[in-house]
This record gives sequence, structure tokens and C-alpha cells, in this order.
Amino acid sequence: MKIEGTPYRSVWVNRDDNWSVHIFDQTRLPWTVDILRLTEPSEVAQAIKSMQVRGAPLIGAVAAYGLCLALRQDARTESMEREAAILADTRPTAINLRWAIARMLTVLRNTAPAERVRAAYAEAAAIADEDVAQNEAIGRHGLAIIQDIAAKKPGRPVNLLTHCNAGWIATVDWGTALAPIYMAHDLGIAVHVWVDETRPRNQGAALTAWELGMHGVKHTVIADNAGGHLMQHGEVDMVIVGTDRVTRQGDVCNKIGTYLKALAAHDNNLPFYVGLPSSTIDWNVRDGIREIPIEERPATELTTVTGRALDGSIATIRVVPTASPAANPAFDVTPARLVTGLITERGICAASEAGLTELFPEHA
Ligand code: MRU
Repeated sequence: MKIEGTPYRSVWVNRDDNWSVHIFDQTRLPWTVDILRLTEPSEVAQAIKSMQVRGAPLIGAVAAYGLCLALRQDARTESMEREAAILADTRPTAINLRWAIARMLTVLRNTAPAERVRAAYAEAAAIADEDVAQNEAIGRHGLAIIQDIAAKKPGRPVNLLTHCNAGWIATVDWGTALAPIYMAHDLGIAVHVWVDETRPRNQGAALTAWELGMHGVKHTVIADNAGGHLMQHGEVDMVIVGTDRVTRQGDVCNKIGTYLKALAAHDNNLPFYVGLPSSTIDWNVRDGIREIPIEERPATELTTVTGRALDGSIATIRVVPTASPAANPAFDVTPARLVTGLITERGICAASEAGLTELFPEHA
């Protein structure tokens, strides 16, 4: 990804000291590009909880680096296990977080304490590098779908609708749902993206719109409730989203509101695709509605809105009467029957156990 022409990943190790960890403060985007330097595991945990860093694949990679920071302070087994549990508990829904910590522990439990820091940084780097490669592959597979649609409407742009932010700022690079869009754009295919604002935290309006704009991709931000109307009027060719956890039977958990887009796409006979690296598949869970823990975020995220005031300052204002209670479930589950296909690094499959295990036979 490039910001004002400079290539970046969404997480990296400081090139001078070789150990501290950098991320972008996503709570400040799109107003300010603030780079944070994290030196303590508690800072990493807080950055994940407060969503300074967010997006399922990215919080997995950042948590892995958090464990590196913890081991620099104390590489003994008891401390390592405690810090790993703290990092894994920072957010409950995205499985990539637990997957990354489990992968780190598998290596580190078999490594002598004196060797653990070196081994941890190597494994965290491997997780980050693999995420980039997997997302690039998702981009290539998803590109074929966009090319098919483009071939059927020559001279007119392919209109995609996306929810939340599943772009490069939600991963180490490329993004999941946005990777095919970037590739199509780079190949000169005319694409236009309807960007759901994604209340309450506005990841669409703030982050997806920002990164599409940085890459020069045409887009229009819409209210979360506008998608169904646009679909009814032929303004959407395809819906593509990311995910925080896909179950063995292909149910898709993603940002709250995704389910409603899938219902509207189904009612309008439109394809609804999901981009995901295999680290997002929870092979131990089948029924997404019953088995995936849904994060309940603070009500203040709903009762307030943050943005740039007309005087240029960043301001948070209340939009709900002070006496009214508010509820803020952060994710929902789209049943597999509403999903046209899962775009993974190994190819596209049906959202079903048969589809997934055909691509990933090691989990059959
Ligand atoms: O609460 P967030 O912003 O971390 O939620 C992110 C999403 O729902 C994304 O769609 C998902 O993590 C996929 S990111 C490639």
C-alpha cells in the first residue's frame, strides 16, 4: 500500500532498533496519519482493544508482535503463557487473533527460553509475510470474478458494494475484499465501489473511502441503509466483504450489518462474495449463529460520532438523547446459504463444509 506515494505495510518492526513495533493509529484516520511506536505488550493489548489497530488479519499479526515484546521482558514459560492469554483475550470475535497466538505458542513452547525472542520475531514476521502473500492470492482469484462481470457490460463500470473495511489497513497489506478491486483497477478495468459508511465506528466512511481514494479507485460513500435500494435499481453488480470468522459449514461472521446486505443481495439475485485468508476459518465451529461469540462494544460508540469539525479540529459529538440506553453488537453472522462463494488464497469455493474441505483437505 502507498500513502502519498510511500509504500507501507500496516505493521512493521522499527528498522533502527530492530524490536519495537509500528502501526497506524486507525482511530485518527482519515484526518491524520499517525504512526504509533509500541514497546510494551500492554500497549499492544490496549491498541487492539481500543481499535487503534483493527481488522481480523491485522490484529492477529500485531498480537504476534505483542508476544515478541512480552518475551523481551520475560521469556520464562509462565510469563509467556500469561501474556499470550492477555493478548488473545483483547477481542473475542476475530479468530485470527487466537490463531496467531496459538501458532506463536506452538513454536515457542518447543523453544528454550534463551532462544525465544529470536524465534518469536521470526514467527511473527512469517505470519505477516504469509498474510501479504495470501491476500495477493485472494486478489488474483477475486479478480477473475470482476473480469467476468466486466466482460458482460462493456464500456460500463463494474459496481461493487462493500461493508466495513477489509482493505490493506485491515491486513498487513492488500486487504481481503478490496484486493481484487485494487487488482482490477490496476489492470485498467473500470470499477466503482459503493462504500457502506458502517456505523457505529464508520470504518467504511473513514477507512475504506480513505484507502480507495489513496489508490485512485472510484467510490461513493453511502448510508448503511442505502444498499438494498441501489441493488433494486441495478446499481450494484456484486457485493464483496471481508470476515472475522468463517465456520466449518461456511457461515460468515463480519461487521454488524453484513447480514442485511447478504439478504438484500439474495433478494435481488446478486452475487455475495467473501474474501478471507485461511487463518480466518475456525474449523472447530459449525453453526456461526450459535457458536461464535459476538463482541459487544461500548454504547458510546453508538451514542456519539467523531469527525472533523468545521474549524478543522477533530470532535466527538453526542447524537442520542442522554437518557436513552444504546446497544452495540459489533458483528453478525451471515448464514452460508446466502453466500455465493468464499475467495481464499487457494481459490474460490462454495460456502459449505464440502467446499472448504475440498480446498483445504488437511482439515477434512
Ligand atoms: O471491528 P473491526 O473494524 O475490527 O471489524 C473488521 C471487519 O469486520 C472486517 O470486515 C474483517 O475484519 C475483515 S478484515 C480483512
